[in-house]
Amino acid sequence: MTDIIEKLNWRYATKKYDPAKSVPADKLERILESIRLAPTTSGLQPFEVFVVTNPAIRSKIKDISYDQQQVVDCSHLLVFAAWDDMTPERVNMMFDLTNEQRGTVNEGWEAYRKQLLGMLAARGQEINFQSAAKQAYIGLGIAMVAASFEGVDCTPMEGFDPNVLDELLNLKERNLRSVVMLPLGYRAAEGDWLVNLKKIRRDREHFITEIK
Ligand SMILES: Cc1cc2nc3c(=O)[nH]c(=O)nc-3n(C[C@H](O)[C@H](O)[C@H](O)COP(=O)(O)O)c2cc1C
Repeated sequence: MTDIIEKLNWRYATKKYDPAKSVPADKLERILESIRLAPTTSGLQPFEVFVVTNPAIRSKIKDISYDQQQVVDCSHLLVFAAWDDMTPERVNMMFDLTNEQRGTVNEGWEAYRKQLLGMLAARGQEINFQSAAKQAYIGLGIAMVAASFEGVDCTPMEGFDPNVLDELLNLKERNLRSVVMLPLGYRAAEGDWLVNLKKIRRDREHFITEIK
C-alpha cells in the first residue's frame, strides 16, 4: 500500500475525540498552511478559515450542530467561511496582490481581470457565493489529507445551522458565510462507534470510467 492510501484508510470521520489531547502548534500550522496553498478559481482564495478554541463559543456552536460532541471535545475547530459575493473590490484586491508580488503588470492578465469582473457581476451574488463555497471545499479536502499525514484526526461537518453560526462568529459583518467545519484532534481510545467499522466505498468499476 502506498503511503497516501495508507493515510487515507487511517482517517475516518471521527465521532469521539479525547478532550485531553491537543494538536501541537507545528502540526496545526502545517494543516492551515496546506489550506492556504489550496488552488482556487482564478486564484481568488474566496474563503477564510476560523480556528475556534474558545470553549464558550464552541459550546454555543454545539447547540446549533445537532449536539455533536466533536465540536467541544476536539482540540481545534476549523470553520470554513466563504465570501458572500465576489465583488470588484475583492477581485481587484487579489489581482493587485498578484501584480505587486510578481512585480509585473501583464496585458493578458489585465484583460482577464476585466473579463472576470464582467462575468462575476453578470451572474450575481448567490452564484458567486456558491462558487466561493466550492473553493472552500477544496481547502477542506486538502486539510483532511494534511491532517492524516500529521496523524491528526478530523471530522468534516456540514451538520450545523449556518445562519446562526454566522451570527455567533460575526461573519455577516465581514461579508462571509460559513459553509463547513472541521474539528481537529485525537480519537478517543474508547467509545467511538465508527473507529473499528469497515470503510465503505463503491468498488472501482462502479466509480471510475475509463474512456480510451
Ligand atoms: C461535506 C461533509 C459533511 C459531513 N458532515 C458530517 C457531520 O456533520 N457529522 C459527522 O459526524 N460526519 C459528517 N460527515 C462525515 C461523513 O459521513 C463521512 O465522511 C462518510 O460517511 C465517509 O466516512 P469516512 O470519512 O469515515 O471515511 C461529513 C462529510 C462530509 C464530506
